[in-house]
Amino acid sequence: MKKIVVIPGDGIGREITDGAVEVLKAVDKKFSLGLEYETHDAGGTAYDKYGEPLPASTLEACKKADAVLFGAVGGTKWDGVDAAHRPERAILGLRKGLGLYANLRPVKVLDALTDNSPLKAELVGGVDLVIVRELVGGIYFGDRCESEIKDGAERAWDLENYSVPEVERITRLAFETARLRRGKLTSVDKANVLATSRLWRRTVERLRAEYADVALNHLYVDNCAMQLAVNPKQFDVIVTGNLFGDILSDEAAVIGGSIGLMPSASIGEQTSLYEPIHGSAPDIAGLNVANPMGTILSAAMLLRYSLRAESAARAIEAAVERTLADGYRTADIYSEGTVKLGTVEITGKIIERL
Ligand code: IPM
Ligand code: MN
Repeated sequence: MKKIVVIPGDGIGREITDGAVEVLKAVDKKFSLGLEYETHDAGGTAYDKYGEPLPASTLEACKKADAVLFGAVGGTKWDGVDAAHRPERAILGLRKGLGLYANLRPVKVLDALTDNSPLKAELVGGVDLVIVRELVGGIYFGDRCESEIKDGAERAWDLENYSVPEVERITRLAFETARLRRGKLTSVDKANVLATSRLWRRTVERLRAEYADVALNHLYVDNCAMQLAVNPKQFDVIVTGNLFGDILSDEAAVIGGSIGLMPSASIGEQTSLYEPIHGSAPDIAGLNVANPMGTILSAAMLLRYSLRAESAARAIEAAVERTLADGYRTADIYSEGTVKLGTVEITGKIIERL
């Protein structure tokens, strides 16, 4: 048996993970994967129940699991909660606790959806890239000070720092990812200003010789943000630090028409975690309108990376593509001439197409 810990989280988290588990169960029937599920709380929901966003029991269950399927956390309801107990701490705690050092965020623009992109169809048709974001270092996890008085003024600070081993680990994974794709790697930094970026660039350069079959280039993050809007097809694999990766992956995701479609894999030292890249959308929670496809495609990544079940992963991806090609849409990607369905109903269409 393979144990999957499901963490619905907050807001639409429950509906979208429900949809993804339905799809996994259907795929399990076809491919005999022997999956079993265990649901745990995290985020604001866990804070309300236990007074903490990431109960120790949830983290322990994740450590013992073969993989974790995560929905989303957060919501305006917890805006007033202190920084240490905010729902977002749950995902940051899981990243640190499971050593989820690499976040893979693929962006593939499907033909059926080129018109949904904010960019011109001819710019985005055929875009197929993946952002490899470092996930447990950098400014997200550096020392910080919420408030201090210096020279008579209140200030706050966050420390950005990267070590050579941290950069090497993510860079190797990015080179290997590029090798299995079109053999092109773009490393993104701000080496014209930041010391951490200069160390990043030196370290990436040093590994170049070991991956001579991969074409490597470097871009500054501001230029990369612009290039994603003017010529996204130039990219195959992008590797970058935690903060730049956070920003660039949202930008890249929206090129595909809707952030609701985008999956991610967070690769850990042992257990890995899979989650859509969108948030908990509390405004539409419980209304059966959320797009489950980002989570369903995350479940496909789970099968690929944690269970090495490539054909089952492909079956899910193909079923999602066919559902879209057949004209079925959730509200976020609806356009005239297509059929608008709810979360449950579109999940059904995907299952029919497995
Ligand atoms: C993401 C999210 C998180 C991040 C938040 C919820 C802490 O935006 O997964 O990209 O900033 O990493
Ligand atoms: Mn983000």
